[in-house]
Amino acid sequence: MSKILLEIDGKEVKAKPGMTILDAAKSVGISIPTLCHHEALEPFGSCRLCTVEVDVRGWTSLVASCVYPVAENIVVRTRSAKVDRIRKMILELYLAHAPDSFELQDLAQEYGANRDRFEKEASFCIHCGLCVRYCAEVKQKNAVGFVDRGARKEICFIPEIAAKECWDCKECFPLCPTEALQAAYVLSQALFTPRPVS
Ligand code: FES
Repeated sequence: MSKILLEIDGKEVKAKPGMTILDAAKSVGISIPTLCHHEALEPFGSCRLCTVEVDVRGWTSLVASCVYPVAENIVVRTRSAKVDRIRKMILELYLAHAPDSFELQDLAQEYGANRDRFEKEASFCIHCGLCVRYCAEVKQKNAVGFVDRGARKEICFIPEIAAKECWDCKECFPLCPTEALQAAYVLSQALFTPRPVS
């Protein structure tokens, strides 16, 4: 299979057609932070934390590396003042939703993000969709989904399915970058588990 030659952080990289910039970077040991990406799932491109700078024939743009396909002779910078500024801002926005997330706090430290920059709206969910997509794509159960839209969007377990499928599974729990998922599960358990009649 023909290889695609590109440059990432000054390194010449030989990538396979169909790879994303994130895949290509990983193949040469360059790590790019992600929140909504999972190897077993279709790329989603929602969190934008994986943003990198790409030069294509002299034109520079910012792209989400988890969905952007490799192309011949592009030049990628995974860290730059612009990239770091964007990641810092994204983390500050997410920290307004999930201020106690350890994963976000670690990343915030790396990018100098201020946990208190934006007013707290502690919904705890950052809409990465990992739980929803893992349950649908890998487990094929659709026990968890999104409800509502925009700022009111949140994850919710579907009680009829969750009651049958989730107790022995919970494989989505460790994927959650915040504590939102466990909280939603506990809540749905509390609301929908039938209580013994006394
Ligand atoms: Fe690329 Fe979330 S990891 S957009």
